[in-house]
Amino acid sequence: MELLQRALLTAFSTLTLFYVVVKLSLGYWKRRGILHAKPKFLWGNLKGVVGGKRHVQEALQTIYDTHKGQAPFVGCYALLKPFVMVLDLELVHNILVSDAGYFTSRGLYHNIQNEPLSGNLLQLDGHKWRTLHAKSVGVFTSSNLQKLMPRLLEVSKILGNRIGDQKLQKLNVSQLVDGYNVEVIAALAFGFKGDQAEFREMSRSYWNNFSLWRAYLALELPLLARLLQHTSYDELAANYFYNLVHAQLYQQRLRDRQPLQNFLQLYSAPDDALSDAQIAAQAFGFILAGLEPLNATLGFCLYELALQPELQDRARNEIHEVLQQYGGQLTADSLKQLKYTKQVLNGKYCNSLQDFKQFISFFIVETLRLHTPYPFLLRRATKEFELPKSVFVIARGNNLIIPVAAIHRDPSIYTDPLRFDPDRFEAAAVKSRPAMSFLPFGQGLRGCIAMQLAEQQLMVGLVALLQHHKYSPCADTQIPLQYDNRKLLLMPKVDILLSVECVDI
Ligand code: HEM
Repeated sequence: MELLQRALLTAFSTLTLFYVVVKLSLGYWKRRGILHAKPKFLWGNLKGVVGGKRHVQEALQTIYDTHKGQAPFVGCYALLKPFVMVLDLELVHNILVSDAGYFTSRGLYHNIQNEPLSGNLLQLDGHKWRTLHAKSVGVFTSSNLQKLMPRLLEVSKILGNRIGDQKLQKLNVSQLVDGYNVEVIAALAFGFKGDQAEFREMSRSYWNNFSLWRAYLALELPLLARLLQHTSYDELAANYFYNLVHAQLYQQRLRDRQPLQNFLQLYSAPDDALSDAQIAAQAFGFILAGLEPLNATLGFCLYELALQPELQDRARNEIHEVLQQYGGQLTADSLKQLKYTKQVLNGKYCNSLQDFKQFISFFIVETLRLHTPYPFLLRRATKEFELPKSVFVIARGNNLIIPVAAIHRDPSIYTDPLRFDPDRFEAAAVKSRPAMSFLPFGQGLRGCIAMQLAEQQLMVGLVALLQHHKYSPCADTQIPLQYDNRKLLLMPKVDILLSVECVDI
């Protein structure tokens, strides 16, 4: 009896303690007297997200739509963790650009000691990020990307070859673009030309180890997680990429003075070269940060063009017109010439998007707007920040979320926002919109370092896909496409399947 009483008492005390901790955590914004989205017990504002009933973007969109215009930011909770959701675009500019010095951290978990691959730019913060960022800025230059272009063009041939000249009733577009993007990353990031099957397998399986709860605890209590040697990636895949980089670097050092073919060469250039482990982490960063958004963008773009054949014809005609001047070949020069695919991003976006002016396709930018692969940006305040001309303060250590996809779907910025309409990116329309209303690659100090490479890869891929083939929906095309609720990125729930046929030039 006494034992039962003790057990009941212990259970009661534990539950009471748990209840108090949850209530205290979810009372953070109320205590600070800040406008906030009402949290649900335990789930905060993510009810339904953890179980996969809705996408995190849906949850963020609801908070944005409900509170926009009421204050520069609103408090919310990812489970028990308080977040500042930024609503006002001027404040977004402060955080990402003009006062970025207060927000240089992203607050992701990394554990270099036990998992060297986590020492990549995306995951690192503080001094380690700063040093690596300085080095990487010199790596991702326009002139280096130009030198890597021939290799990219070579790899792009696999797209046309894999479709062939058959009329296919059902082409798995998701697998096709994954094959292309994996091969580009293998070639450009790892300098790897061998059999791609294992590489592809590993690039799919490195998240096998993922557990939402462990990831959440690592974010909440990073010191404890490091003490417990928590790692994020599947060990087999992590070892594979690590060893591949070692082997490639070894080969590379044997062959001195070779022409520039990949990023390993750039990262291992003798002036303040990185260690092999640091280089491996940067190569892995291509897969971690780049593969899924590249796949999603190319896949969604083709899907949207399949639904609107007149737009697709417009794109193809433009491609043919330009390529005719280059003997029908896609070259670095012909790419620059693609008039219709030229984006005139002047004025407001231009500050740090200079390189975008030349190449980017209206189709790709509109895809990035409507199906924004990274639906939100993260920042952590490293110092207390007083909002200009306001009584509000963002406290040191506060985590911030910038709801990019919700901004991209805000009807006061983009009329009829769920419609795919590349003409939104005509120069005059772009000029009429406020700064910070288009952020698929983030912006400022911690914006995507590979933005120019990514758009180059997407452009080359799109041209290779559209040049000789026409796409239309088939019986198995999911319309409208649904997003995969289990992913943080906006990815299709099922593979994109389209019908394809060859077109005469
Ligand atoms: C469509 C393709 C891509 C999209 C939409 C995209 C988008 C983004 C976004 C939204 C961020 C966060 C920016 C911020 O917090 O302000 C980011 C960061 C980053 N991306 Fe990309 N990305 C793409 C492709 C790539 C590729 C191919 C790479 C290959 C290296 C890459 C490497 C990185 C890295 C290293 C960071 C972290 C930069 C830092 O914190 O210093 N991304 N990307």
